[in-house]
Amino acid sequence: MIIAPSLLAANFGRFASEAKRAENSEAEWLHLDIMDGHFVPNISFGPEVVRVIRPVARKMEFDVHLMCSKPEILLEPFAKAGADRMTIHVELGERANDLIWQIKKLGKKVGIAINPPTQIGLLEPFLKEVQLVLIMTVNPGFGGQRFLPYTLEKVQRLRKVIQHKGLSARIEVDGGLSLENVPDLVKSGANILVVGSQIFGDPDPADAVRKLKALAERSAVDLELLA
Ligand code: DX5
Ligand code: ZN
Repeated sequence: MIIAPSLLAANFGRFASEAKRAENSEAEWLHLDIMDGHFVPNISFGPEVVRVIRPVARKMEFDVHLMCSKPEILLEPFAKAGADRMTIHVELGERANDLIWQIKKLGKKVGIAINPPTQIGLLEPFLKEVQLVLIMTVNPGFGGQRFLPYTLEKVQRLRKVIQHKGLSARIEVDGGLSLENVPDLVKSGANILVVGSQIFGDPDPADAVRKLKALAERSAVDLELLA
């Protein structure tokens, strides 16, 4: 089970030290929510922030989530800044094919994301091309939102499709995660958990990560037993 703290929930005046705190926890990935003020009604941060924090959090996998209408102009800057993986949205339609190809050409791992209202079926053409599917469990744009319970069923359905097709894509979930909903998400098939406010909003982020990871791993054992 991977915990991926979302820097969106960190103190924007202290990105470097917040990234360091994340690295000093048991979290393996750092989730970087990139918002362009067009695909979502918010603007977050860009490649320069990623470049500055890269040397501070060397051990972490930089998981860049592009909530952007024109990600094609950002792929190279983020690749150069230190992204390990870049995820684009299936809502971009046909363009997703070429964007996936461009990310791979840059030598980076690739993911595809899907918003709560979008049907899982739209993902089918891309599942064999990506290493990761990011299921949004809130409508994208802001941290600190309430988890949308109906997205659990999407995780369950996607897990069945991936198993049925014998694919290896992993399932990442993002938005409103907490100790309350992590067990259901893991038992539904999620194995990468993006958490913002429950980690960076905690006085002891490392302890928050430890608790989330332990709970997720216990829930994963239950899933095996259920299997
Ligand atoms: C929404 C963002 C948030 C963020 C997680 O676009 O992607 O989901 O990463 O924030 P919390 O955990 O505070 O909901
Ligand atoms: Zn995200």
